[in-house]
Amino acid sequence: AEVVILESPIDAGILAAASIRSLISQKADAVLGLATGSTPMSLYSALADSLRSDPLDVSKVRGFALDEYVGLPSGHPESYRSVITRDAVLPLGLTPGNIRVPNGDLATLETAGSEYEAAIRAAGGVDVQILGIGRTGHVGFNEPGSSFASLTRVKTLTEKTRIDNARFFSSPHDVPVHCITQGLGTIRRARHLILLAFGEEKAEAIAAAVEGPVTSSSPGSVIQLHPHVTVLVDEAAASRLA
Ligand code: F6R
Repeated sequence: AEVVILESPIDAGILAAASIRSLISQKADAVLGLATGSTPMSLYSALADSLRSDPLDVSKVRGFALDEYVGLPSGHPESYRSVITRDAVLPLGLTPGNIRVPNGDLATLETAGSEYEAAIRAAGGVDVQILGIGRTGHVGFNEPGSSFASLTRVKTLTEKTRIDNARFFSSPHDVPVHCITQGLGTIRRARHLILLAFGEEKAEAIAAAVEGPVTSSSPGSVIQLHPHVTVLVDEAAASRLA
């Protein structure tokens, strides 16, 4: 992987946004893999700024979110459908109908994974997958133990991840226990991976992903199996790299 250490999340966001902008200018219907959470916020806001000051047609851009909670009522403000709409689709001016999120409805859960995989295939695959990483080392919601061949499926969140995400809910008990997430095998098929991480609390996960053994105990180490990976980190997240 190419590892770039930047002064701040803002600088990393600007760099990642430039790469995505250049992709869209060459391929108007580019397929973006979208992450939610705090990490990609600087990227989405840098890209929104850039599109505002120098407009580019993004109406044909397509997007696939990494993951979704299972069983949240539709329209819940913290469903990843709501989050991706608020954080990326609206500020970037993407076409809402072009953006897919795994379907966490209980009624259709059995077929939701294979349908999502079929939709990604039909779109011609993901051109660039934006990734964050959890303290547990998860990418998407592939917690330690996830197979490198896994495809979109239902998973159980670890206690640590539920505690980390409790900040978005009124109590930790409200964080769903299950999620539906692209698998590590799905993520591996994207043509370019951009992994972002900021802060000391991500340092261990970044060291394991970039330099540790390739093992399903460190799901982020899947990046070592991929030919085109860009890792954008601040000093703190890079602090455990050799
Ligand atoms: C988000 C996702 C997760 C997050 C990770 C880091 O769609 O799949 O892997 O990227 O939990 O979360 P933040 O960025 O909030 O620290």
